[in-house]
Amino acid sequence: MQTANTAFSLEGKVAVVTGASRGIGEAISRQLGQMGAHVVLADLLDEVEETAKALSADGLSTEAERVDVTSTASVDELAQRIADKHGRVDIAVANAGISYEADTATHSDEEWSRVMAVNLDGVFRTVRAFGNKMLSQGGGSIVAISSIAGVKAVRPELHAGYDVAKAGVAHLCKVVGVEWAKRNVRVNAVGPGYTNTPMLQQVGIERPEVMERWIDDIPMGRLLEPSEIATTVAFLASDAASGITAQLLMADAGYSSA
Ligand SMILES: NC(=O)c1ccc[n+]([C@@H]2O[C@H](COP(=O)([O-])OP(=O)(O)OC[C@H]3O[C@@H](n4cnc5c(N)ncnc54)[C@H](O)[C@@H]3O)[C@@H](O)[C@H]2O)c1
Repeated sequence: MQTANTAFSLEGKVAVVTGASRGIGEAISRQLGQMGAHVVLADLLDEVEETAKALSADGLSTEAERVDVTSTASVDELAQRIADKHGRVDIAVANAGISYEADTATHSDEEWSRVMAVNLDGVFRTVRAFGNKMLSQGGGSIVAISSIAGVKAVRPELHAGYDVAKAGVAHLCKVVGVEWAKRNVRVNAVGPGYTNTPMLQQVGIERPEVMERWIDDIPMGRLLEPSEIATTVAFLASDAASGITAQLLMADAGYSSA
């Protein structure tokens, strides 16, 4: 008799996703839930409650939590609350991020510090807090969200701080993935290309010439859907990727190779 391959199942696993109230984080939460995980949606925004309720209404096992990834205490307390309540945390997705645009010639210190605080330091705090829980329980999988901007000078928009932070995320995952490889904690990054979120739809409305440039530069000739980033994250989070650590996996419609 042929038995089912359960490597892609997340049944019985506890997952946390930061920046989960909308966009890519919401899609990741939905995907992990659909594969059987109990998902803790964590975000700075109150809207995370509504998002978690909507996913629960669709039959998924979820709960909402508040977190500010710019605060070590907030991230550490979140990890402790989840460990206390569920006894373990198997999957952590460091997705929370912010974007902005600035010419480097006029890029302020404040803007540089703000983007690093969320996009790089926030990922470090998330990896450290949940990594600690996983190391003590004997295993787990961490996935952090990098970007095409972390491997290539994207055009025409300008945001050097964002780009450097996203390159840092990929390298952090490489270094820590190797550091924890024998301790059964896998650490990987996903690099999304331009993804069809409300933020990008707004660009298409306000600056259609920018959207046209992006589409021209994308080998597949289209934006990614949040669900396509989510399935990539879920693969790395699952036992189907048990031999993969310290990697950056691009989900970018071919953009970074062109
Ligand atoms: N949309 C794209 O095209 C694209 C491409 C590449 C990478 N990314 C990355 O994917 C991730 C998600 O992007 P998105 O497009 O869904 O953006 P989004 O703005 O829709 O969602 C980001 C979420 O992060 C939360 N967040 C922001 N600061 C936070 C903080 N300090 N603490 C906790 N939560 C915080 C926000 O409240 C929001 O819910 C980001 O890391 C982004 O850089 C997006």
